[in-house]
Amino acid sequence: MTEDKRSGSVYDRRSPLELDGAAMRALVDLAMARIIEHIDTLERQPAAVETGGAELARSLVESLPQTGTPPAELMELLFERVIPVSYNTASAGYLAYIPGGGLLHSAVADLIANAVNRYVGVWIAAPGLVQLEANVVRWFCQIVGYPEDAGGVLTTGGSLANLFALITARRVRLPADFLAGTIYTSADTHHSIQRAAVLAGFPPANVRDIPVDDARRIDVRATARQIEQDRHDGLLPFCLVGNAGTTNTGAIDDLDGLASLAAEFALWFHVDAAYGGFFALTERGRARMAGLARADSMSLDPHKGLFLPYGTGSLLVRDPETLWQAHSVFAHYMPAMQEDHEFVDFTQISPELSRDFRGLRAWLPIKMHGIDVFRDQLDEKLDLTEWAHQRLREISDVEIVAPPQLSVVAFRLRRPGWDATRLNALNREFMRRINARGNVYLTGTMLGPDFALRICVLSFRTHRDRMETCLSDIEQAAGTLVGPA
Ligand SMILES: Cc1ncc(COP(=O)(O)O)c(C=O)c1O
Repeated sequence: MTEDKRSGSVYDRRSPLELDGAAMRALVDLAMARIIEHIDTLERQPAAVETGGAELARSLVESLPQTGTPPAELMELLFERVIPVSYNTASAGYLAYIPGGGLLHSAVADLIANAVNRYVGVWIAAPGLVQLEANVVRWFCQIVGYPEDAGGVLTTGGSLANLFALITARRVRLPADFLAGTIYTSADTHHSIQRAAVLAGFPPANVRDIPVDDARRIDVRATARQIEQDRHDGLLPFCLVGNAGTTNTGAIDDLDGLASLAAEFALWFHVDAAYGGFFALTERGRARMAGLARADSMSLDPHKGLFLPYGTGSLLVRDPETLWQAHSVFAHYMPAMQEDHEFVDFTQISPELSRDFRGLRAWLPIKMHGIDVFRDQLDEKLDLTEWAHQRLREISDVEIVAPPQLSVVAFRLRRPGWDATRLNALNREFMRRINARGNVYLTGTMLGPDFALRICVLSFRTHRDRMETCLSDIEQAAGTLVGPA
């Protein structure tokens, strides 16, 4: 550092990073104009752009910038060149994987949260904001039917919720030497459970993939037999994972049966409700997921069923003490933590210390609209999926592989006498032709040896008009594949 700088010629000046009011407004206005144009034209944008990615990515590689670029140029780069080459996950036609949509309200919440940049890891640092996030967790607990004193934390998504759940179950139920612990789940369970088990320190073979029945629900009796066998072999069965909506087909396990089994063998019962959990808001969803509230823990993703932008999941537990038991540690440099159970220090019940104030992303839209609007949206998605199911049944050569249990329906073209390899190739081509029209974007999965196409309806922007287009595109694509392929 030179004498000159220390005496003030540089350091007395306001840093260019400290935007004044006019500069802040100009930046936000610039971004907002682009955002509005983008969202207003979603209807006409393709549901996915899958070409040109490698060229685009290579063209964007650059070394560390030494000087600034005008924001208008940066917005142009983002909105004209970078964003368009992507799956259009915000569009009505995105019926792939598990959609969500991305409520703009949450983007505004993020702007506020990041601009005030308060710290919500410990209660004392921002008691009011921590309470708003605690309210969100409490509302989620209410939605799934958990008791008043249940609790939980917001995560960045279902994968981390599943990881935190398995670590909590391990810490609460197993001795320090836990390698004999075994986990039970269906062969259709999301791969994040397998990964969570491995990251939690278990050998992959300790995860038992129990077969599924015709409706792709875990075979409860086979689960019981496997648990008994493992006990007999000196292993330590400790955790049972059920599904409230698998990613493959939206299958809902017999949660009541699994809860009873878990109670019988004193296992921790975790439910992966990342996709399906918010359907508990609807009468149909609640009835189909009976037993959900008997889980010791569950993952529930607002960036799926509440249409929030990516990056918001949650882990709910019947007994918040278990999260505390699993995560709580002491450090001299930290502020005093809550003894009072009325309040919560999120860092004491999760692995994170510094993190974003993600609660506001759910709080703002729920407070602005009330929960009934979300319930109606989810009811509409159940109706649309059932409607698509009925229409698919009317298309000749199409067979339903998995009727909807929630908002996923799986189907394929049938060709009697064809072997699996040829039939799978035909169905991949079928999907390619549907997607090539650009109106909708579907993805597929393997159900045993069979490739199946899926429609997953979950975006708040998807309504009957887009579903009609979807079915019409499916019918036309099926028509182009008539006869030997
Ligand atoms: C059933 C289920 N569980 C877990 C996950 C993982 O969630 P995330 O992508 O938020 O990590 C998903 C993602 O689609 C899912 O569908």
